[in-house]
Amino acid sequence: MIWLLILALQTTPAKNPHGDAYTIGTGLPCAYCHSQTPHADDMYRAAGRMAKMVAGLNAGPLQRMKIDCFSCHRAGGPKHNALHPISIDRREIEKLMGTWSGPTMTPEPVRRSMTRYVLSLGVQCSYCHVAGNWKADDKPAMKTSREMAVMMDMFPKYFEFATASAFTCFTCHQGAVKVPR
Ligand code: HEC
Ligand code: HEC
Ligand code: HEC
Ligand code: HEC
Repeated sequence: MIWLLILALQTTPAKNPHGDAYTIGTGLPCAYCHSQTPHADDMYRAAGRMAKMVAGLNAGPLQRMKIDCFSCHRAGGPKHNALHPISIDRREIEKLMGTWSGPTMTPEPVRRSMTRYVLSLGVQCSYCHVAGNWKADDKPAMKTSREMAVMMDMFPKYFEFATASAFTCFTCHQGAVKVPR
């Protein structure tokens, strides 16, 4: 990550209007978005769209919960070297698919999405479902999950398709119920 250091030593604006959100939150130095290069210009625009998305979600479906750059970027991960939020482990999905505990007639796409839910939040099926009725909304987590699933349709409003499809339950939750900020 020497290049990040070299970038950091280049043009750094004098004032920082972002608090720690854009730098400590994302793990990126100021110059990553603020030097006179096409790459930095692209990142400046990308960060602007990210900021609109955060504001939009916090004013809408996440009004009572709130997220920040850190919620997904986690300061660049434990090694501080990830530009993008970590994504769900596909091998873990395949492994868990083989231990399906729901009804045998459940179609493959539902099994896959339930397996993703379990891995994304780090919970068991019973966190959302009551025994004996897979459709019931008795548990608050079930209702919240339906709202979260609706929220997922908002990402194309802020990004083109390729980027929007990078957002999953795991992007924010990363294996836990709580989402830090
Ligand atoms: C991840 C990209 C990113 C990083 C890192 C970043 N900024 Fe910014 N900065 C932006 C964007 C985008 C804007 C436009 C306003 C906004 O969205 O907040 C901006 C706006 C600014 C402005 C207002 C003038 C302008 O260009 O619009 C200043 C000054 C500034 N940043 C300084 C800093 C400093 C100092 C740091 C490091 C501590 C920093 N920025 C880190 C993306 C970034
Ligand atoms: C809801 C999760 C989430 C939040 C919150 C979030 N990001 Fe991102 N960010 C992503 C994802 C996912 C990507 C990778 C997109 C892709 O693969 O194309 C990304 C990529 C980026 C990139 C790199 C773009 C590129 O093309 O490589 C920058 C810069 C960035 N985010 C800045 C920010 C800033 C600044 C904030 C806070 C204002 C923020 N992000 C908040 C999920 C998030
Ligand atoms: C985070 C909450 C959550 C977890 C964890 C979860 N589910 Fe679900 N499940 C839902 C929601 C919400 C629906 C309905 C909407 C949908 O299909 O996404 C659903 C739908 C289902 C359905 C279809 C019900 C029907 O007939 O309409 C089955 C079967 C099911 N889940 C089984 C499971 C099993 C088995 C697990 C554990 C491997 C599991 N779920 C884990 C939230 C969850
Ligand atoms: C844009 C970020 C984001 C995405 C994407 C997201 N969530 Fe969440 N979710 C949150 C935040 C923030 C909270 C509040 C967590 C807290 O209290 O720390 C939350 C809370 C929840 C809860 C309630 C947890 C509790 O306290 O019992 C459930 C269940 C949940 N999410 C399910 C999902 C499912 C299922 C998906 C994918 C369909 C999803 N989430 C996608 C941000 C997100």
